[in-house]
Amino acid sequence: MSALSPRKVLIIGAAGQLGRLCLKTFSYAPYQITATGFSRSGRDLIHLDLSKEGKAGEMVSRLRPDITLLCGGMTDVEGCESSREKAFQINVQSPMDIVREMKNISSSKFVYLSTDYVFDGNAGPYDELAETGPLNVYGASKLAGEKAVLEASDRNLVVRTTTVYSFQPDGNNFMMQLLKRLSQGEKMRVPIDQWATPTYAPDLALVLKKLVEADARGIVNVAGPDFISRLNFAKTSARILNLDEGLIEGLLTAELKQKAKRPLKAGLRTSLLERTAGGLMRGIEAGISDFKSHLAQHALK
Ligand SMILES: NC(=O)c1ccc[n+]([C@@H]2O[C@H](COP(=O)([O-])OP(=O)(O)OC[C@H]3O[C@@H](n4cnc5c(N)ncnc54)[C@H](OP(=O)(O)O)[C@@H]3O)[C@@H](O)[C@H]2O)c1
Repeated sequence: MSALSPRKVLIIGAAGQLGRLCLKTFSYAPYQITATGFSRSGRDLIHLDLSKEGKAGEMVSRLRPDITLLCGGMTDVEGCESSREKAFQINVQSPMDIVREMKNISSSKFVYLSTDYVFDGNAGPYDELAETGPLNVYGASKLAGEKAVLEASDRNLVVRTTTVYSFQPDGNNFMMQLLKRLSQGEKMRVPIDQWATPTYAPDLALVLKKLVEADARGIVNVAGPDFISRLNFAKTSARILNLDEGLIEGLLTAELKQKAKRPLKAGLRTSLLERTAGGLMRGIEAGISDFKSHLAQHALK
């Protein structure tokens, strides 16, 4: 196949934070996109429910994509904890059905999005070879999903990421929650003891495309360069966005009394990525400033 031959791309979860950015990034030749949504399907997004056994596999056997990006999944950490079976159906079983079908398509590639929640959070930031040890159902389901996808074909790619943020008016990522609350004068409680490497979603989408084009395989960490506590991330964001930092209240994760345990010292090291697609992941100052310019453009509409 020549570099310019059309390549069929299936983006699953294209209404989500990362999915919609991947839609943009892959919207140029030689890619021909089919995209799915779940609660936000309709218009250009075909409905696909990953919790329904067999549906994802059926779609892949019908469309025969060269590349499938699984941006969708059960991402609600607390929800996963109370619905283990559903979390494993969505994050493990449906991806397994897809990779089984993709084995019948020559040189096809499946990209699975995973997380630093596959680690126990005692020794972050983690590189690709660090020992895993998920503390909650979400992390365990993602780790099982990774294994299934990598075992199915050595062409497949697992991209681990963390604390993904972007300007998304109908979204609920950490930065959008912060923006909505603080701009309405509401307090926001933020853990002081959770550390990660925040990842600007537009950079992640661009790097995903670079990795696909470089035929990257196995596990690759894609995250921002700054290792920072959630509290510091919130305060830096508030400062850059001219929001009232005084409304941010730091507390211990344990005080949040969540069902799912959180890895505290998490985050991802990206030295492997630096060798293939280095310099593309912006730090938080640049990421939040870009977020701010999207916010300003939105306000003008
Ligand atoms: N956000 C983070 O901080 C973070 C950190 C580490 C890893 N990740 C991983 O990165 C990927 C992308 O994250 P994101 O922030 O873009 O997530 P997101 O905004 O929560 O999007 C997830 C998407 O999954 C879809 N979905 C939910 N249930 C579904 C079902 N039963 N069947 C089919 N689709 C379903 C939703 O579709 P509808 O909107 O149409 O309902 C939603 O758009 C996920 O795999 C996530 O686990 C994210």
